[in-house]
Order: sequence, then C-alpha cells, then structure tokens
Amino acid sequence: MQLSLIDNYDPILNAESRVAELHRLIIHHSQRYYQFDAPEISDAEYDALFNELVELEKQHPELASPESPTRRVGSAPLDKFRTVRHRLPMLSLENATNEEEIRTKLDARVRNELGLPEDETLVYMCEPKMDGLAVELVYENGLLAVAATRGDGITGEDVTANIRTLRALPLRLSGDNIPSLLEVRGEVYLSLSAFQIINRDKEENGEPPFANPRNAAAGSLRQLDPQITARRPLAIFCYAPGHVEGISFQSQQAFLDAAAGWGLPVNPLARQVSGIEAAVAYYQEMQAQRESLPYEIDGTVVKVDSFRLQRELGEKSRSPVWAIACKFPPRQAETMLEDILLSVGRTGVVTPVAQLRPVDISGVTVARATLHNWDEIAAKDIRIGDTVVVERAGDVIPAVVRVLEERRTGTERCLPPPLKCPECGSDVVRIADEVALRCMGLSCPPQIRESIKHFASRGAMDIEGLGDKFVEQLLSLGLVHNVADIYLLRKDDFMRFERMGDKLASNLLAAVEASKHRELNRFIHALGIRHVGERTAKTLAQAFGSLENLEAATLEELTSIRDIGAIVAQSIRTFFDNGENLSVIRRMIEAGVTPSVTSKKVGGIFSGKNFVFTGTLSRFSREEARKLVEDQGGNVVGSVSKKTDYVVAGDEAGSKLAKARGLGVAVLGEDEFLALMEAPQ
Ligand code: IVH
Repeated sequence: MQLSLIDNYDPILNAESRVAELHRLIIHHSQRYYQFDAPEISDAEYDALFNELVELEKQHPELASPESPTRRVGSAPLDKFRTVRHRLPMLSLENATNEEEIRTKLDARVRNELGLPEDETLVYMCEPKMDGLAVELVYENGLLAVAATRGDGITGEDVTANIRTLRALPLRLSGDNIPSLLEVRGEVYLSLSAFQIINRDKEENGEPPFANPRNAAAGSLRQLDPQITARRPLAIFCYAPGHVEGISFQSQQAFLDAAAGWGLPVNPLARQVSGIEAAVAYYQEMQAQRESLPYEIDGTVVKVDSFRLQRELGEKSRSPVWAIACKFPPRQAETMLEDILLSVGRTGVVTPVAQLRPVDISGVTVARATLHNWDEIAAKDIRIGDTVVVERAGDVIPAVVRVLEERRTGTERCLPPPLKCPECGSDVVRIADEVALRCMGLSCPPQIRESIKHFASRGAMDIEGLGDKFVEQLLSLGLVHNVADIYLLRKDDFMRFERMGDKLASNLLAAVEASKHRELNRFIHALGIRHVGERTAKTLAQAFGSLENLEAATLEELTSIRDIGAIVAQSIRTFFDNGENLSVIRRMIEAGVTPSVTSKKVGGIFSGKNFVFTGTLSRFSREEARKLVEDQGGNVVGSVSKKTDYVVAGDEAGSKLAKARGLGVAVLGEDEFLALMEAPQ
C-alpha cells in the first residue's frame, strides 16, 4: 500500500523543522544586512520570515526557545542594572599619538622585554580602534548567557537584555568546536547613518541631540528599557577573548578567525602584519580611509599576535605591554576668519568668537569657533581676514589652532580689545588677575537675559517649562526686567506668548508659584553670584541656614567656612553690598519667595563622617555619590586630610588615593561603599 503524504504529516514535527529553518534563515539574513551591509533579500521578505516565526511560536509555545531571534526584544524595563564581576579584568590601552610613539612605546619596549635580536621581526595584529563602548559577552555552551559593560574594568553593568537586541549578534554560536565557556570582548557602536537618524528624531521631539555616535551608543545601551535599545540599531565588533574554557587559541588571528566562524561579528579590516613598519603603514592607511568608513574610529590598535608572547609580556599598571592604541590626531580644516564677534555672557564677560567661512570638518559644518580671550588673540596674532586652522577634537567646541601667516595679503586687520560693551555701551574692564574682559553695566541686556535663564534653570529654581525661548519672549514683551519680575507675572501675561494655550499658561504660572518654596541652596545658586556654583551654594546654605544670615555675613565669617576662600568671600560680599541686588531680593520676598532650609538628616549612618570621592566612578556619578552621603548625614569634601573618614576610589585614582594611604584613611572601592550603605546598622 502506498502511504499518502498526508498520512505522514506530523504538524508538530513539521513546525519544529520549519522553526529551525527560520532561525537559520533569519540569522543568516540579519548578518548579511547588519554585519556585511550586503542584504540578499528585501526588507519585506525578511519581515515575512520573522512574522512567520512569531506566528509559529504563538501556535507552538514549546518551540519558542530562548535563543530564538524573536526573543531579542520584549523583556520588561529594569529599575537599575545588576552588577557583574568580570572573571578577568578588562584592561585599557596605553596611547600612542604619533607614528614614532608606535615604534618606541610598543615595538622597542616589546623587543627589549623579550630580548629579541634586531633581525627578528614580530608579527602584529592591526585593527581599527572602534569609537564605542566596550562590553563583555559570556557564551555558556554556545548560548549567550550574560553581557556586561566594562564598568571600572573589574565590575560592569549587566546589560544582557539590551545586548540581545543587537541583530547581528548570535544568541547561539554556530559552527564547530564551540567552547564550553567563551568570554569575548568587543566594542558596541552605532553607524554614522543610524546616529544621524537618532539625532534627527531627537530634535523633532525637542530633545537635545547626542554629541557624537559614541555617546549615542552608550546612551542606547545603558537604557533600562530594552524596548528603547531595540529601536536603536546598535552593532558590535568582537576583538578579544576573556576567560575561555574548552578551547585555546594560539594567536589573535586564530581567535578572530574562530570568532568569525562561530558567527560573531569581527571587523573585516583587521589585518595581520609582519614588523612594526607595516603596523605604522596600516595606521596611515586607516587614517586616510577614516572619513569613508560607515562608523567612527579614533585610531588603530596594534597587538602582538602570538598569545604565548602576550602572556610572557603581561601587563603594567592596568594596560597590557603587548598592545597599544594609536590615536589619530584631531580633525582640522583651513578656512577664512571673516570677523570677530563679541558675545556677552551672564556674568558680563565679553568673549571674542571667530566667525568663519563655513567649513566642513568630517561631516560637521563649522562656522564659529571660540577665541577664548584677548590674550589668546594676541599670543596667536589672530587678525580678521586671516586664513586659520580650525580643530574639532572630540565633543568640544571648535577652536582656532593657529594662523597661516604665509597666506597673509596685507589686508588683515587687528581687532583691539573693546573699551565699551557691544551690547549696552557700558565700560569694559579687565579685573586684576583675570584674562577676561567684563562689562560693568548693571542693566546690560544679555547679562539680564542670561541671568534670568540661569535663575529659572533646572539646577537653580527649576521653574518647569520656563526655558530659554519663553524667557526671551518675556524680555521682548517687556514683561520682566529682572528676576523679581517673574513673581509678578499673571496668567494673562503668559497668554501674550506666541502659540500659548490656556493649559500651558496655567502650568507655567503654577511652576512659578511652586518655585517660591525651593530650598535655600537653590535660591543662593540661582542668584548667580560670581564664583558661587551649585556646590558652594550648598555649603553656604548649610553654614548660614537663612538668607538673612548670609546677607549679613562678614568676610571673616565667610572665609572661616571650609571650601570658601578669599575670592569667593569677597564676591559674596560685593553681591550683597550692591543696593540694586538687595532690592531685587526684597521684591522677591515680598512676592512670597521663601527659600526653605532643608535640615540635614541627623543620625544617618554617615552622620558627621567626611568622604572624598576620587578617580573615575562607574557605579554612580559624583552628584549621586554626594546625595547618597548627604542623605545619610555625611559630608563630601574635596581633599584628603586627617579629618577624612573614607576615601572612595574609582578607576585610575591618583594622588588623593596615595595621600589617603599615607594618612591611613580607610579606602573603599565603589562596591564596598555601596555595601557599607546597605549593611545593617
Ligand atoms: S583591545 C587589553 N581592540 O579601546 C586590550 N580595544 O583604549 C583590550 N577598543 O577599552 C582592548 N577597538 O573599548 C581593543 N580593536 C580593538 C578596539 C579596542 C576599540 C577600545 C576598547 C578599550 C579601549 C582601550
């Protein structure tokens, strides 16, 4: 009897093999798309495969395995990241900033350590230095188990749920000889095109854009909600093994080959070379290719290829002797300095700004650059009409590096320092010991504008919604002339703004009202007294407890406070000795502003204890650290002394750590500090 095909049909078995097939197809096509930028099928065809798998898994939940491509997204948001201790520390690299340093800091040192004869060439692995953030992936029996950020090199954050959303990363390794445990390090990055799309979206939503792809990648990976990470097309290149069990590699080349064989993304531009001159040539080649790559690189990395030699060479102060990061010089361009503009800031400082003929520096149009001050202009002999070299280094504001004197035609003009403020015509003076020129006008419009913006800002009185644009409208409608006027505003005043609705006007009014009861330290900070930032304002609020006390404080009383020096004390006195300032403060108080004093928590676990934080902190920011300590009644101080109770040292802590050790002060790591907070008292 002949069996019909139908009789043989087993829906479960069939679904199972189709699911396996779909896994294979989806992984293959994701890699073609994300890793090699060479898709073989259309997006719609890819989506059809993906949706088919989603459907099948819905019908047969038992077939939805943890490594399914559909499991990349969808886990729930977290409150905070768990920490993960790296089995082997994640080191950093020493830098070479030019070709000669590649020879001396790597080749010469390595040869010396190994005692190599002159005629023996070393084999090096050269790789692009990806400008992203380092992560460690842990594959257990071929399955992605954990992914963590570098953190301080010893412990990082558990970002497994987010890493699972990287389309080009296999959740299960494929191929032969899969080790029982594979830790692999790599750099997570965003392509330039993805970066631009993310920033465009951000700007459309009125959010501040990311400064560069690295920040965007870090921001996207360190999302507590993996759904957000899933929408950002993060990518990764793997570049180093961590702890590995069940297999061993002879060389970096062998490791990269094996990794690629298991389906891990490896940079195709990595190249094994013989001798240091070839590594230098690779550095030059990458620098020339840099602008045409679809992602940012900030240099190359050269590694001794042989793992045996790597082990022999070992490491020195947290970076391996066998590798070096060869950084590219900052990007520069030449252009004409068309004019020098004068900008007046909140404190009246008049800053010269170069107006440039717009020039493209690697995709960013630069039309302005800071000239810092007139001493700088004189030192560099910068004249209007000069051809200048402009530099864009990292995220900083572009700067004029130097003048190309050989391009001068004789028509260039020097611009002497101004004697009068360009905005209000008041005298401009140079205060002793300062390079800055300062407008002394009390009613100088940009000073008023900037001081009102500062007053309302988040770090100061935090008047929600009263951002720069609204402050400018308040000024141009003549509704405010100083910060006190803010508290006389009525809803009708806000209704005069462009495109203002009833609800928003009510909200703004409520925000102004709410700000009347901000803490004293915020109020002091908001006043914009020179040299009194957020931190000093806090110190003053704690020391004096009320505005009246601060107003009345003598120079001696002020300088007797720790962290308040003569210059700051004088600046505070000058501020309160000014009748106009006092009358603005009086008017605010009459309008109901009552800066409140937050009494310090007494009896907290750190009551009376002094902390110093030093080095690069990775578990919390300086501000968070301060809050943690202060919430528990402790103090955070800037320098180590005998009065210091604890020094909390992050990565690369330097002299403060040494001093603490010298004085016998207790030194804690970040984790130990957190443990101390959580310990039962
Ligand atoms: S190897 C012990 N290779 O650069 C050596 N690092 O400055 C470990 N990086 O933390 C690093 N591309 O985040 C290596 N091809 C590459 C790299 C690379 C970028 C980053 C990595 C590391 C930093 C060191």
